[in-house]
Amino acid sequence: MQFLKERLPLAEFSAHLRKPLPKHINLLFSLGSLAMFLLLLQAATGAFLALYYSPSPEHAHNAVTYISEEVPFGAFVRGLHHWGASAMVIIVFLHLLRVVLYSSYKAPREFTWIFGVLLLLIVLGFGFTGYLLPWDEKAYWATVVGVEIASTAPVLGDFVAKVMRGGTEIGAVTLSRFYALHTIWLPWLAFGLVGVHLFFVRYYGSSGIPQSPSCSPDKGGRGVKTGKPFYPDQVFEDVVGMLILFVILAVVALSIPVPLEDVADPTNADYDPRPEWYFLFLFQLLKYFQGPFEVIGTFVIPTVGMVLLLFLPFLDKSERAVLWKRPVALTVTTVCVAGIVLLTILGASSPKLNTQETPQPTEQTQGTTTPNTETEEVEDGEEVFDFQLTEEEVEGTAEDEEVFDFQLTEEELQ
Ligand code: HEM
Repeated sequence: MQFLKERLPLAEFSAHLRKPLPKHINLLFSLGSLAMFLLLLQAATGAFLALYYSPSPEHAHNAVTYISEEVPFGAFVRGLHHWGASAMVIIVFLHLLRVVLYSSYKAPREFTWIFGVLLLLIVLGFGFTGYLLPWDEKAYWATVVGVEIASTAPVLGDFVAKVMRGGTEIGAVTLSRFYALHTIWLPWLAFGLVGVHLFFVRYYGSSGIPQSPSCSPDKGGRGVKTGKPFYPDQVFEDVVGMLILFVILAVVALSIPVPLEDVADPTNADYDPRPEWYFLFLFQLLKYFQGPFEVIGTFVIPTVGMVLLLFLPFLDKSERAVLWKRPVALTVTTVCVAGIVLLTILGASSPKLNTQETPQPTEQTQGTTTPNTETEEVEDGEEVFDFQLTEEEVEGTAEDEEVFDFQLTEEELQ
């Protein structure tokens, strides 16, 4: 300890952690810590799943079935990861709502807010990329719809869709791209952004609950700090919250099996695509804008909504922090939350979205439906598995139909 004390600013760090928080703090101030706990839980369970998962259309579905049915505690860990993702969206949303209702986004906490909105986008990105990985019917068709939505964006839409797919169709390249985003790009970004977010949270200190002008989130971020210290009191409450959340998730993971449909069939145009529940409100929104107005539902409203959210601290510069003195903020928040909830309910119970315009499958995707029939005998009697990419799929340009073969021996596959 002496060795460490001489080399590290431990005393300053301890004093910083023991600084009192604002007097009025309630359980809603633990939501950020719960979001952080869930991020770590997702990373831990995801790392375990990655030991068995294989991001190729031939193996992904089998690997997920194997995890759920054969691997010891596989179904439990997969359950924690699956339900943990939904819990993460709910907790992050509630955390955002708490920040809005308590005016915690106002000066000087604009950067904390902006990095929070970026984290929200990353959480949704995890959900979107993770949904494809089991490579079952719902995964495939929801991604077809998701990528089509991205393609409607003006100017860059087609390019973005092509980058997402890694070519012209959803197939092997798309799956490895989504897997790389889900397991490398987004986790690095998420942990980096959480680091910056938490730096700002500690730098400005907690805002506390605005009750009277004397303890409102003031300009200098120095509310009346006469409450309990962050460590050990608040940390203890946060840890209890994390344990309770973990027990709830564990019970859900043990009692509700994670759904897995049949392996993706790109020829099944009758499939009724549904995104994950937290994208249902966007999916429902699309239905009100048809034909030339489609872009309003797919691009204009979501983009304008996100930009307004990002710049909220600069749009609402009022110094009134107490909720009942902010009728406009209260009304806008209520309308937005009620709209999202209503659209989600309507989306969950709504009829099929038209998928007739979805691209027809080529070899890349067809190979995924009957992986084990794509075998052939080679000279020495060794069985091989083929999946073929056309030049167009590899380079993203159409012209001739030269094909590229990637052959895996049965031995390599197993
Ligand atoms: C992975 C996602 C997130 C994590 C891990 C996270 C973590 C945290 C933590 C631990 C705190 C301090 C405790 C608390 O006030 O609850 C906090 C505060 C804060 N967060 Fe987040 N957060 C996330 C997402 C967001 C989002 C989506 C927003 C809003 C768009 C946001 C805005 C803020 C603000 C403004 C504060 C300061 C609150 C105050 O001083 O009272 N955060 N966050």
